[in-house]
Amino acid sequence: MTERLDKIVADTENCTRSQARTLIRRGEVAVGGQTVRDIARKTDPASEEISVSGRILAAGRCYIMMNKPVGVISATESAGERTVLDLLPPRLKRRGLFPAGRLDKDTTGFMLITDDGPFAHEILSPRRHVEKEYEALLEHPANAADIEAFACGIRLGDGTECAPAVLELDDARTTARIVIREGKYHQVRRMFEAVGNRVAALRRLRIGGLYLDDTLAPGAARLMTPEEVSQIRRGSIP
Ligand code: URA
Repeated sequence: MTERLDKIVADTENCTRSQARTLIRRGEVAVGGQTVRDIARKTDPASEEISVSGRILAAGRCYIMMNKPVGVISATESAGERTVLDLLPPRLKRRGLFPAGRLDKDTTGFMLITDDGPFAHEILSPRRHVEKEYEALLEHPANAADIEAFACGIRLGDGTECAPAVLELDDARTTARIVIREGKYHQVRRMFEAVGNRVAALRRLRIGGLYLDDTLAPGAARLMTPEEVSQIRRGSIP
């Protein structure tokens, strides 16, 4: 979407329109590497690189991997509570970003943040079958009957039917790996409740064919490479 340059700079830099115009007139703003002094110049931040004092504000679509910590909301805003967007370092902040899908406040792990609506829709739509893999710590040991129930499709407490899911257990049967291809509200927690268990901690490890970068500390985020974006699109581990 094309917009006036002074509006884009004001929105992205969180300054007033008049401060944005001063920056543009001073020659601090470049579009596609060229200094632009025309405050009314129209441009599309999704397709052109815009920089202020050499710092890039926008350059095409943006795909960020975050290791979401406990206690943070996966929304663009939340009254009085910290969101995943609040955790982004200034160099990654830009207009139009949103978390692609929800993780509960107490769920940790792979959070994808983007400004690409169609891509988010593609990976979240149950019809696209993009896998999401979680690790859950369980209050009680799970068993073979639970594995079978997950494979057949769990019916949640409110009657909602879940598609077949993979459940794998460690030797103690209290750490589980779950692979689902949809994203119903509190799905993994409610699936375990449906078989009489409880999730004590939940972490998302993978979206599609891409695992969370385990060098990212809780709360840290980085841009994804184009190859990583296509690994997500692949939907599952080959
Ligand atoms: N399932 C849940 O129950 N919670 C999440 O955050 C993600 C999947």
